[in-house]
Order: sequence, then C-alpha cells, then structure tokens
Amino acid sequence: MQADRKPMPPPPRSPRRSLGELFDPRLPEQIEDPYPLYARARREEPVFYCPRLDLWIVTRYADIVAVLKDTARFSSANALYATAEPLPEVRAILREGYESFTSLVQSDPPDHTRVRAVFGKAFGPQRVAALEGQIRAIARELIDAFARDGRADLVSQLALPLPGYVICDLLGVPRADMRQLRAWHEDKQILMSAHAPVEVQVASARGYVAMQRYFQAQIEARRDDPREDLLTLLVPEAIGGSAPLGMQEAVCNAMDLLAAGHDTTTDLIGNAVDLLLARPEVAQALRDDRSLLAGAVDEVLRYESPIRGFFRNVTADAEVAGVRIPGGARVFLLYASGNRDEAEFPDGDRFDIRRGDVTRHLAFGKGIHFCVGSLLARTEGRTAIDLLLGRLPGLRRGEGVARRKGFFFQRGYDVFPIAWDVPPDA
Ligand code: HEM
Repeated sequence: MQADRKPMPPPPRSPRRSLGELFDPRLPEQIEDPYPLYARARREEPVFYCPRLDLWIVTRYADIVAVLKDTARFSSANALYATAEPLPEVRAILREGYESFTSLVQSDPPDHTRVRAVFGKAFGPQRVAALEGQIRAIARELIDAFARDGRADLVSQLALPLPGYVICDLLGVPRADMRQLRAWHEDKQILMSAHAPVEVQVASARGYVAMQRYFQAQIEARRDDPREDLLTLLVPEAIGGSAPLGMQEAVCNAMDLLAAGHDTTTDLIGNAVDLLLARPEVAQALRDDRSLLAGAVDEVLRYESPIRGFFRNVTADAEVAGVRIPGGARVFLLYASGNRDEAEFPDGDRFDIRRGDVTRHLAFGKGIHFCVGSLLARTEGRTAIDLLLGRLPGLRRGEGVARRKGFFFQRGYDVFPIAWDVPPDA
C-alpha cells in the first residue's frame, strides 16, 4: 500500500525579468541578435526604463516619430554628452581648446535652423549627383588594389576608406590626412566614454584639442583662399566668409561630420554584404537587375540600421504611450526596433528588397534632424554593392571570423573577411 502523498506544491515561478533589467546592448547575445528582445519590448513594454543606462527606451515606430516631432519637450541640445565629468588633468588640457561642443545634431531651433541651412547647400541632390563619379572612382581604385588577391577584409580595404576619402574630398582636406583624422576621432570617442585609464584620457584630450586646431587652421586658410569645398562654406561671416556661424560652431561641425558620415556608411556597406552573402538568390537578383539596388540599400538600412538609436533630453514631464517620463530624464529612441515594427512594416523580420515604400524607415532619423548625408550615404552604399557584385565573381564569406562592433549604439562590423574566384589569367 502506498502512503498518502501530499500533492507537491508547484515549483516557484521565477519572476519574468522586466525589459529594463534585460536590456543591455553591450552583452554579446544582444550584440549578435537584439531583435527578439526588441519585439518583446514592442509587445509588452513599448516604453521602459533601463536603470543600468539611466535611459528611457522607446521601441515602437509611431511613438518614436511622435517624440521626434516634439522637439521642445525632447531636446537634442547636448544629446551626446559624456557619461562622466572629465578628470581634473583631462579638463586642464580640454580648456586649451573649445570648452563645449556645439554641432548640428546636438542643437535645437533656432540654432539648429541656422546651422542646417549652411549644410543644405553642401548635401543637396545636385551636389551629390556631381560627386557620384568621384565616389565610383574611389571605390574602383580601392577594389583594384585587392581584386587579384581572391580574399580581403571588406572593412579595412573598402568599407572604411571609401566614406573616409569621400568625407576628406567633401571637406577639402588631403586624403593622406584620413588616418590622423580617424585617430583624433577615436580620441573624441574615448573622452566621451570616460572609462579609459587616466594616461589614455590625457593623451586623447591632447588629440581632441589638436583636431580643433587642425580644423580652425583649415577654415582660416579658406578665408584667404576659398575653394569648392565644405570648409569654405563653413567660414564664419565674422572673418569674411558666408556662414552665419561662430568659429567654434564651424570647427565643431567640421569635426562632427567625421563622426556622422564615416563609420555609419562603413556599417551600411558591411551589413549589406553580410545580408547578401547569406542570401545568394538576392545577390543574384541584384546582379541581374541593377535597378533593384536602390531599394535593396534602403532595405539593408531598415533591417540592420547602422545607428541603433539616438538620444533626446526631456525638458519637462512628458508621456509616451501612456508612460510618464520625468523632466530631466534622457530617452533613447530605438530606431532599429521601430524599423522592425510589424504595425509599420508587415512581416518586419523578413529581409525583402522589393518592399514598397521602405524609405520611411528610421535609419536616418526623421523630422528636423533627418540625416543631411542620407543621399550621399545611399549613393556610397549603392556604388560599393554594385561594384563588389560586378567585379568579384563567386563573392562569399572568407576564412576567419567576422567581428561585430561592440559599441552601444552602432551596428556593423570591425572585420569582415570575404573571398571570391580569381580567373587564372587575371
Ligand atoms: C548609412 C549612413 C548613415 C546613417 C545610418 C546616418 C544616420 C543618421 C541619423 C540616425 C541621424 C539623426 C540623428 C537624430 O535622430 O538626432 C543623422 C543625422 C546626421 N547625419 Fe547621418 N547617417 C549616415 C550618413 C551620413 C553622412 C554620409 C553624413 C555626411 C557626410 C551624415 C551627416 C549627418 C549630420 C550632419 C546629421 C545631423 C543632422 C541634423 O541634426 O540636422 N550622415 N544621421
């Protein structure tokens, strides 16, 4: 006979962790595939607070667009501030240059309107169309340098130098300076994260000030010797130029273009090649019909957005999707999630280069801060894909590991090996 058994109590249910606890864009699994978490957020907690980052995350397309429209309550001023106060020895060096950084993407109207008008001239459709031949020539030259090798690192040999040289040409500085400009740009990133050992931060502060001096000297030189370049457009009225800008604004905006237009375009090219090599039938469709290229580039931008999201500072208590966000808080608009939102893009997790009206994606933002370089970036992306597919037969992933970037708000590759067939008589 069996003894009476008491029914077992059900196992304690582990409380489901909230999105705010789970969200950590620096974790390897969230770097590799963040999209299931984004989908859960859109379903269950479309706006949530992440204590680890002290950020309110907005994940649905419609809510992101609503926030972008409300520029008075959700300010871009100082949107990219450093996460910690600089150390005294770092601050001492920074004082030798400009103390604050005032660029287009970090400003609100009326300053934003005034500065944006200066940029409008440099990035309009006619100017970009005129650059197209130059972009193609640079891409061709870069590919020529490795076409007979049968293998390459896509990032360091094409995706990084192509937009780097384009920005140098646009600004009007020698291409040979790109290496130095990148090193200074990395100094700026080190200063913003403020986590590096003190001696590294000190060296970066020196680099940051040197970059300011470099651009100031370049802009001053354009006053006496104007050219057909962006730096000439930035020469302040006060020293005889045409721009309604102070010298600090002119310098900061020149510096910011490197941040805004370089890695982002590198990531677009890396993400595009990644998606196409995983789908040979799509790559073949593009080889057969180049008119599909423009839609394909926008679908890459939607599906794998190089800028995962962007910040706004909350100026007064606000409500988004019924969630109260206090004044003084900071929000992160998760563009990469809005771009997969089923309410806006049916079957949003499917990569489809023939999607209708994909250009309403949020990869370039929306509203007054919509990317000024969007046309240029699309042209660079289209040209790179066109030439890679046309020039390298049997293009495939190469040996070695493709390494994704670990940055908080960027999505792309640091290293991406590719291989292809080289005919014996090449
Ligand atoms: C695939 C490449 C690119 C991506 C994904 C991208 C993405 C973005 C995004 C998301 C914003 C809006 C930020 C916000 O919401 O506040 C933005 C703004 C901006 N981008 Fe781009 N960008 C790219 C290429 C470029 C290029 C090539 C340039 C110029 C050389 C550029 C220059 C700028 C500038 C100056 C702004 C500030 C606009 C404003 O605040 O009015 N970007 N970009």
